[in-house]
Amino acid sequence: MSIIRSSVLSRADIERIFKRADHFRKKKSDLLKGKVVGLLFFENSSRTRVSFEMAAIRLGARVVQITAEGSSIQKGETELDTAMVMHCNGADILVVRTGTDTMPQQIADMTGRPLLNAGEGCTDHPSQGLLDAYTLRNHFGSLDSKVVAIVGDIKHSRVASSNLSILQTLGAQVRLVGPEFFLPDNAGVPVFTSLKEGLAGADAVMALRIQKERLVNRTMSMYEIDYIREYGLTKETLTFAKPDALVMHPMPMNRGVEITDDIADDPVRSLIYTQMENGLYIRMAMYEAVVS
Ligand code: CP
Repeated sequence: MSIIRSSVLSRADIERIFKRADHFRKKKSDLLKGKVVGLLFFENSSRTRVSFEMAAIRLGARVVQITAEGSSIQKGETELDTAMVMHCNGADILVVRTGTDTMPQQIADMTGRPLLNAGEGCTDHPSQGLLDAYTLRNHFGSLDSKVVAIVGDIKHSRVASSNLSILQTLGAQVRLVGPEFFLPDNAGVPVFTSLKEGLAGADAVMALRIQKERLVNRTMSMYEIDYIREYGLTKETLTFAKPDALVMHPMPMNRGVEITDDIADDPVRSLIYTQMENGLYIRMAMYEAVVS
């Protein structure tokens, strides 16, 4: 089994992963003793790479990594051929981050190994969607009817699409908020270009990083908007949401662009570091799901 697409996870699948994450938070396990986890990170990462590595180590596995820098990718080798290096050397589980849509599925098909998608192009980031929903579930108890506003560069964000899918599966009401050029066509949920309208009644607000690396032939300045004033999470703009609305961000953050320091570091409302911590237990549960 692999976990590649957020949209195929049923409510029961997600709740099972949450239950096992709760378990791994409390109990040690050597579930992956004797196994080797191969991390293939073709795109940069801090949190997801360390979290998948630490989760594997905590479960007793050994970890081998290939990153784009320092590998034969620099000599022009394809990601598929690079994945075969892990396969032919006996990695038991693969974890893949890539900028190329469909690459995780192609690697899973070619190697036949259990695979965890650690972020794929603009398409999907299941472990992030799961850890975000788990963080909200831990806070609220249930996500049924909770209003979650996702704000910013929705169009280029795999975090947005994974959250949209997983939060809705768990019963949350999701809205997308951002400037026209960052909003997807046919979102299937309410979409707002006004931050004030989009945040009205929100129980939680998730800011997204502007994916500068995916703005093909453009820079943010070309859009000619004062982003922090129009779409940033600040003390002023957060008053549009419920008075006790929670603040989230998958990180890395562009501080001062999509969120101000005082909001990001608010010890009561910001769940940003809790999200990061929860990622460890969610990824332990994801390993278990693909080897069981
Ligand atoms: N949230 C996230 O995917 O962070 P990294 O890019 O640092 O892994």
